[in-house]
Amino acid sequence: MSSLDFTPLLAPGLPPPAVRWNGFAKYNFIGGHNDAEQLPLAALVKAANDVLTREGRTLATYGLSSGPLGYRPLREFLAQKLKRNAGITCTADEILVTSGSLQALDLVNGILLTPGDTVIIEQASYQGALTRLARLGVHAVGIPLDGDGMRMDALAAALDDLKSRGVRAKYIYTIPTVQNPTGTILSEARRHEMLRLAAAHGVPIFEDDCYADLIWDGRRPPALHAMSKHGGVVHIGSFSKSIAPALRVGYIVAGWDLLARMLSLKTDAGSGALEQMVLGEFCPAQFDAHVPHLTRGLRAKLETLMDALNEQFGTAAEFDDPKGGIFLWVKLPDEVDTLKLFAPALAAGVAINPGPEWATDKAYGKSRTRLCFANASHEAIRAGIATLAEVCRREFGVPNRIANVERAGA
Ligand SMILES: Cc1ncc(COP(=O)(O)O)c(C=O)c1O
Repeated sequence: MSSLDFTPLLAPGLPPPAVRWNGFAKYNFIGGHNDAEQLPLAALVKAANDVLTREGRTLATYGLSSGPLGYRPLREFLAQKLKRNAGITCTADEILVTSGSLQALDLVNGILLTPGDTVIIEQASYQGALTRLARLGVHAVGIPLDGDGMRMDALAAALDDLKSRGVRAKYIYTIPTVQNPTGTILSEARRHEMLRLAAAHGVPIFEDDCYADLIWDGRRPPALHAMSKHGGVVHIGSFSKSIAPALRVGYIVAGWDLLARMLSLKTDAGSGALEQMVLGEFCPAQFDAHVPHLTRGLRAKLETLMDALNEQFGTAAEFDDPKGGIFLWVKLPDEVDTLKLFAPALAAGVAINPGPEWATDKAYGKSRTRLCFANASHEAIRAGIATLAEVCRREFGVPNRIANVERAGA
């Protein structure tokens, strides 16, 4: 019997099909994977056992005994943590637990965006945010960044330009606290200015604080949500980077007026309960002790990556030392096209994220690449960067020195 051909039945406008997964590259610098060594595994096992033994029978009801916003002890932990670390004043009932913060992006977009809308976003930003906007038919205006995050002069100019054309942006999407991919932190002065500009133009701010726990010195400015005097900021976060991305637990902080609209779009009848229960049990006693341990390990890997790049690429690789997180945003010489470097690098076992996929302006992204240093071991970082330099030299003639040694005639 011949199998049914689904092709003519597929809904129009689907995104391109996914590529089949063939395992991780030997030298894996892509995605936002975490460091397996730093996972607090024994404590998570104990938390799972304790919470299931105590209240596992609540799994018999959708939403446990906590309702559709998510496991209440986890939301209570979040409300306290957000107050302590980010200055945010909110109750557990102003927090919606989501299936990763990707679902948070979908829900915020779902209640606010329609095709043809315009949003403002950092010029280099999270690919998952950019592809969602493209799929929704939303125009993304990119704002350049410098060492202090999004540039406020450029934001003011963009808002004025849109206004002169009769366009009101639907939101300003920002990753202000350890930006993806640049690793910058928006200064407190700029946060005030962003809030002022947003209020003056009647534009909400969509604050994505995915990496805010992973700051080397642990010090962060207050969240935009905390600094706003008249609301207008939707804040999202995640446990992916502080604990583990496979858990798929994120959250949204917003007033009930917005959460009520998002809840009616959230079609999964609640995010995975086991993950929420384990985190709700683990976090109150152990989150604060776990994070500095994690960031120390990440910082050490970043040092290894920066050393390896200096050794293998010399001045051909330019980067700023990020303030935290798991990524290094690297500028290679102009002749390098990282979209074209991707395939030969992968064939040699090195997976990199090409810059254009993380930028609104493809020309700006062309010779840039994002390297995740969290997942690879120190040895794999060194060997992977040496291989990447070899491939890059073969394909583009740069770096013209290998391992800090000038090549004869180069
Ligand atoms: C800025 C930003 N937001 C959101 C996400 C989504 O993460 P998750 O769905 O795992 O919480 C990521 C993942 O890398 C990210 O970098």
